[in-house]
Amino acid sequence: MKSDHSFKNLTALVTGASSGIGEATSIALAREGANVIIHYNSKRAEAEAVLKKVQALGGEAELVQADLTSLVGTQKLSKFAASKTIDILVNNAGSLIARTKVLDFTPELWERVMMVNLTSAFFVTQAVLRGMVERKHGVIVNVSSVAARFGGGVGALAYSAAKAAVSAMTKGLTKEFAPLNIRVNAVSPGTVDTNYHKSFSTPAGLDGVRAATPVGRLGTAEEIADTIVFLCSDQASFIQGQVIEVNGGFLMA
Ligand SMILES: NC(=O)c1ccc[n+]([C@@H]2O[C@H](COP(=O)([O-])OP(=O)(O)OC[C@H]3O[C@@H](n4cnc5c(N)ncnc54)[C@H](OP(=O)(O)O)[C@@H]3O)[C@@H](O)[C@H]2O)c1
Repeated sequence: MKSDHSFKNLTALVTGASSGIGEATSIALAREGANVIIHYNSKRAEAEAVLKKVQALGGEAELVQADLTSLVGTQKLSKFAASKTIDILVNNAGSLIARTKVLDFTPELWERVMMVNLTSAFFVTQAVLRGMVERKHGVIVNVSSVAARFGGGVGALAYSAAKAAVSAMTKGLTKEFAPLNIRVNAVSPGTVDTNYHKSFSTPAGLDGVRAATPVGRLGTAEEIADTIVFLCSDQASFIQGQVIEVNGGFLMA
């Protein structure tokens, strides 16, 4: 990305910004001049390190903690977000929670997976949209997943269903808010080398993905962040309601 500080004086809220794609997105947005609100759940020290990196790039930064597997945590973040002037929202927080086969799923686990990946993104978006509508501008980027397209690996059914709903939500939001100068898109990462896979994947599984990916490697968090920053920029002004696949050719149809 060119560094013309095109996001100067704009404030971005990035959820799940204590590591991986959210961290890289926070830093990439700060490099373009944005102030960044860094949301995290459990990794306070890591979130503080991201805060320092954003500040070192000249941006203002602040932290907000919320567990988005619960309605209480979602309401906490929504209330906080509604109290701020947010120009850019990146709904990035997400988790598989636990790789679980269909017959082992409980209603509680299903609810937690839906909350952290889908429901929280909807209600945080709703909270931010009120201000965006008043100010007549805003950009939202949702983070979906390649799993939304093929059902995910075994044990990731609920996660992939939630991410498919995130992709659908992106289009529904566009119909309602594009006329109000609020642009909504999604990025759909393939397999990206982050903490996510330390928790949920095996080395053999990742080797299988590399072998099935034309480019022959996993993605980096920075590659996803660059796409998110582009979608946030004015250069993407006519891109509306799209789900941009960034997966090294793993899935092309
Ligand atoms: N890596 C991939 O291959 C891949 C592929 C497709 C889509 N994605 C999506 O990309 C997004 C970022 O993932 P990542 O790969 O960067 O993984 P990551 O490094 O593990 O980051 C996940 C982020 O989500 C936050 N989070 C997790 N559980 C949460 C909860 N209960 N409440 C609130 N926040 C929570 C984490 O916060 P704390 O660490 O502070 O708890 C962390 O900041 C997710 O939506 C993921 O589904 C990833």
